[in-house]
Amino acid sequence: MNKNIYAPDLAIINKVRDEAEGIKTFTLEFEDGKLEESFDYRPGQFIELTIVGVGEAPISITSSPVNKGYLELSVAAVGKVTRALHLKKAGEFVGLRGPYGNGFAFEEIKGKSVLFVGGGIGLAPLRSLINQIFAYRDNFGKIDILYGARTPGLLCFMDDIEKWGKLKNSEVLLSVDVPDDKWQDNVGVVGSLLPKIELDIENTVAFVCGPPIMIHFVILDLLKMGFGEEQIITTMERRMECGLGKCGHCNIGKSYVCLDGPVFSYQQLKELGENI
Ligand SMILES: Cc1cc2nc3c(=O)[nH]c(=O)nc-3n(C[C@H](O)[C@H](O)[C@H](O)COP(=O)(O)OP(=O)(O)OC[C@H]3O[C@@H](n4cnc5c(N)ncnc54)[C@H](O)[C@@H]3O)c2cc1C
Ligand code: FES
Repeated sequence: MNKNIYAPDLAIINKVRDEAEGIKTFTLEFEDGKLEESFDYRPGQFIELTIVGVGEAPISITSSPVNKGYLELSVAAVGKVTRALHLKKAGEFVGLRGPYGNGFAFEEIKGKSVLFVGGGIGLAPLRSLINQIFAYRDNFGKIDILYGARTPGLLCFMDDIEKWGKLKNSEVLLSVDVPDDKWQDNVGVVGSLLPKIELDIENTVAFVCGPPIMIHFVILDLLKMGFGEEQIITTMERRMECGLGKCGHCNIGKSYVCLDGPVFSYQQLKELGENI
């Protein structure tokens, strides 16, 4: 019998970690080991997370496919499903279906330098790709990671950030909009970090992920610096229902964000008539 495409699989929560203010990271495994065997995903893809009796929400996979056997989701509690998830503890179950969406290019960017610009929880899908790239470090040029959040308490993945900054030929810069007493690093929007790094623009691909206003201004900065429209890659958030290209909730022009995205180049978005 064919499986109902809308039926979620059950996954067990193995670990819950406080990631930042209002953001938790959940480590999930399928009980029957299926995650290990058949759940292949690419960085930039997402799953539809189900909390039984509450509903579903699309969530990016933040773990990297190089780490087999589990899945990590970092989730901000903003509404029905995400608040219900935050109440869950290790040992409890959630439903999930996927992976969905196109994901980031990986093979195609080998040989290039890579610039990541993330804002807040927007670092979650980028983290998956960053860790995949560092697992194949010799295939890439310089790696620059610029990351910002509104306040220091909203910065995610600080363990990864510390590790990334120490790896060869890579640079990590942080910034916050509003510092606290202890903050001794950069202050300002994340785009203000761009003049602080050295880039070989012609050979660099830029991945930008975060709140829409941040994406807008960072893309303008990158274009001014000389990046081509096809060298700027971003992810689009839309309210989604099916995640499968069936319900028509998420379209941009003739494209479905759940199917043809959520990853698009700036050039593609312009062609679709999306004003970002
Ligand atoms: C591809 C993709 C990947 C994502 N990845 C992540 C991730 O990794 N981590 C993460 O935390 N989030 C992620 N999100 C965002 C997440 O899916 C949304 O925040 C989702 O709405 C949360 O579901 P919820 O039921 O908790 O919130 P909802 O109850 O849907 O509410 C979310 C927000 O939307 C508002 N809202 C509710 N209904 C409507 C409506 N009809 N129209 C407009 N606004 C409304 C609410 O007031 C609230 O502010 C992702 C979204 C997409 C599309
Ligand atoms: S969410 Fe249904 S078509 Fe994209």
